[in-house]
Amino acid sequence: MRTQVGIVGAGPAGLLLSHLLALRGIDSVLVETRSRAYCEARQRAGVLEDGSVALLRRAGLADRLDIKGIEHGGIYLQFASERRHIDFRELTGGRSVTVYAQTEIVKDLIARRLADGAALEFGVTDTEVFDLDSEHPRLRYTAADGSRHEAICDAIAGCDGFHGICRPAIPAGALTSWERVYPYAWLGILADVPPSTDELIYAHHPDGFALHSLRSQAISRLYLQVSPDEEIGNWPDDRIWAELAGRLELPGWSLKQGPVLDKGITGMRSFVSAPMRYGRLFLAGDAAHIVPPTGAKGLNLALADVAVLSAALDGLLHGDESLAASYSATCLNRVWRCTHFSWWMTTMLHRTPGADKMEAQLQLAQLRYIASSRAAATSLAENYTGIAAGPAWHDATKRGP
Ligand code: FAD
Ligand code: DHB
Repeated sequence: MRTQVGIVGAGPAGLLLSHLLALRGIDSVLVETRSRAYCEARQRAGVLEDGSVALLRRAGLADRLDIKGIEHGGIYLQFASERRHIDFRELTGGRSVTVYAQTEIVKDLIARRLADGAALEFGVTDTEVFDLDSEHPRLRYTAADGSRHEAICDAIAGCDGFHGICRPAIPAGALTSWERVYPYAWLGILADVPPSTDELIYAHHPDGFALHSLRSQAISRLYLQVSPDEEIGNWPDDRIWAELAGRLELPGWSLKQGPVLDKGITGMRSFVSAPMRYGRLFLAGDAAHIVPPTGAKGLNLALADVAVLSAALDGLLHGDESLAASYSATCLNRVWRCTHFSWWMTTMLHRTPGADKMEAQLQLAQLRYIASSRAAATSLAENYTGIAAGPAWHDATKRGP
């Protein structure tokens, strides 16, 4: 089989890339190990930067986002029994974020790719990538019906997440990586109860971090800091609600509780691997970098990478290598900014097991500074709402001939 771009992974990065390439008249084959139902149900991120919303709109993918997305002009920071509002719109000249679940973006993308007749294969096994430093790298996989396939490509996009096969296919020595694993995890729940807040609450508490987010006016999403070796079985719903209520409590405010629809524990790490390209294999999204979720950057970084990559591949396939040559550096600039922001938010808000008494005082000093200084609050606001990826980002939705 011949295709222009082989794409591994049907997360937000791989799906959006195949759509952006199609807009440019470039064909792709996308393979995914999981089933369509699994990809559409997996609970993950929920906050889109305004640049991500604009990109999805320009790409013609925002019909449901424009109806179901909830625009937020700020967040609350809670610490030392006070809840302080950080007003993004006022601090950044009108910028905001939109709460719209990653699962909804994935549903929108899959529906659109299938309606456009894309080659999208779920349930594949034994994905392999070869000949990466040649002009025609190859993608091999076993389809759900057991048949083995080989796609001869002009380029391959490794959008297969942190545990995928593309990054390990790059020869040892060609990559440098940086990693930090945090000594805590998030226990996340989706609950059938209206949110108890109008905007997200990030809470610093002596017992550990808590976050109140939402999915709609009827569904809440909440997170608790727990130990990384914690078992979900040790957390019956009553225990989760009691812990959330304790960490989020304020005089005169109470947390509404309801049936838990989904729960899970996610470890937290910072990871960057560079460069994001080897020959004609390009890595994008979690395949190349991971941030801890505090700050809501992972999904936005994945979308930003493929916005840059779609233009780079268009150039490469038409004889202009310049954007492909700069792809990794362009993305890494933004990746490192977000890696720093996510680390900063994480270490400011979580309790490190075994930390000395100084840690909490330093965190509280930083939180008071953000709540009282326009300069400090503006720095948080501009990072949270997103720092643009440069011209390639705006070119991402260019239509082909
Ligand atoms: P992914 O979404 O991981 O997609 C990669 C895809 O590749 C997957 O569908 C996988 O099945 C597929 N794949 C893997 N190996 C192969 C193979 N060999 N062959 C074919 N396909 C393969 N971010 C936030 O901002 N806030 C959050 O609350 C948050 N929660 C998260 C919870 C979890 C459990 C995880 C794992 C991540 C979370 N993130 C969160 C991060 C955010 O969801 C990711 O940054 C985002 O999913 C990255 O998109 P992606 O397309 O790069 O990778
Ligand atoms: C959500 C996730 C995040 O990581 C975050 O910082 C804010 C909100 C969410 O899933 O809604």
